[in-house]
Amino acid sequence: MIGSGGREHALLWKLAHSPSVKEVYVIPGNDGMTDVAHLIPVKGAEDILDFARLMEVDLTVAGPETVLTEGLADKFAEKGMAFFGPSAAAAQIEGSKSFAKNLMKKYKIPTAAYETFTDEEKAVSYIKKRKKYPLVIKADGLASGKGVVIAETEEQAVQAVRGMLEGKTFGSAGESVVIEEFMEGEEASVLCFTDGNTIVPMISAQDHKRISDGDMGANTGGMGAYAPTPVMTKELDKIVYDTILLPAVKAMKKEGCLFKGCLYAGLMITKDGPKVVEFNCRFGDPETEAVLPLLESDLAKIMLACTKGTLKKEKVEWKNACAVDVVLASEGYPATHSSGEEISGLEEAKKTGCLVFHAGSMKKKGRYFVNGGRVLNVAAVAPTLKEARDKAYEGVSKISWRGMQYRHDIADKGLKRLKKRK
Ligand code: AMP
Ligand code: GLY
Repeated sequence: MIGSGGREHALLWKLAHSPSVKEVYVIPGNDGMTDVAHLIPVKGAEDILDFARLMEVDLTVAGPETVLTEGLADKFAEKGMAFFGPSAAAAQIEGSKSFAKNLMKKYKIPTAAYETFTDEEKAVSYIKKRKKYPLVIKADGLASGKGVVIAETEEQAVQAVRGMLEGKTFGSAGESVVIEEFMEGEEASVLCFTDGNTIVPMISAQDHKRISDGDMGANTGGMGAYAPTPVMTKELDKIVYDTILLPAVKAMKKEGCLFKGCLYAGLMITKDGPKVVEFNCRFGDPETEAVLPLLESDLAKIMLACTKGTLKKEKVEWKNACAVDVVLASEGYPATHSSGEEISGLEEAKKTGCLVFHAGSMKKKGRYFVNGGRVLNVAAVAPTLKEARDKAYEGVSKISWRGMQYRHDIADKGLKRLKKRK
């Protein structure tokens, strides 16, 4: 496994419990992952390849998007070594918003109407003609989920575009911008396994992107998730499969960039049906920490089938249960983060039956300390969403450090929706 966050810890945990798996290594990983994997301090594509060859690794899995857009999958493919994750060409579906938007336009995949700009004055004059606010401004390239501005006024929109195109706010990721219509609705994340032809959707999930309760405050990498999300019904699952996932995977094949790996569709469920907010070329974080605990089947076998093109033959089964994952972040996140505070209560949290996935922690002499923005994930599985939520927060209540922050309302939107339905 390549990566070092909570998503990777959840993937490693699931892989380590796969009956077909003997040994798990992570590059570079974090100290909290040693319960399931060996940490390997290797850097750079060539050394990663060498390590995989030397240790006769049967399957390599990419966590983050950056190694994919940089072409790690291509390097493994050249050597005939199994790699879960798309080629650099296919990773553009996340790496370039204009690539993704053009693909959706060409293949009629529902998404917000948009225009792409590289010229500042053209972008500004386009904005001045727009009357409907909010208006959404996005840096074209990768910006760790932070390259999006929801502008409430013309002034904000112009400021965002100028900042991006002048290269101030997002560096080279902002050399080109996408301006798009604001979609109203509730968000859902649908991830799927695909070998480029067959698609197996995972259980739907919902992320919580804002830092504070009630979806207030700054955007983050994600403060918690739950699965399945009641905003997705059986009917919507089918619509998403037929109008989004299948056309997208087929389109990628037709464009000559077969997509193998995990395709993540970030959706807005609007009154006109589900529309794509974004595609990602990898597992979502923190969705993975909620979705994978619900998987019954052998994850390594599924991933290997994706690399070989035999996913159709694979049985992918899910628990009939719900999962909630709460992110614990350090002081100052997302603008900055603190580090060095001692974390207490990890063992007590595990005793409540919760899973604890490490994202930004470090270990010194057997004790854990804060070492990042998102520090830990506390995840719980239970028969109902309410029970999963209660169990996850019981786990959270055992953990503390100075300045620890988390949202208290993970899964509340789902619970409200279930209540209304009754
Ligand atoms: P992205 O990086 O494209 O996923 O955008 C980050 C977040 O901004 C999304 O999760 C949404 O909450 C919000 N967002 C992005 N695009 C739109 C849009 N067109 N309409 C409404 N909200 C959006
Ligand atoms: N949860 C959002 C992401 O992984 O991009």
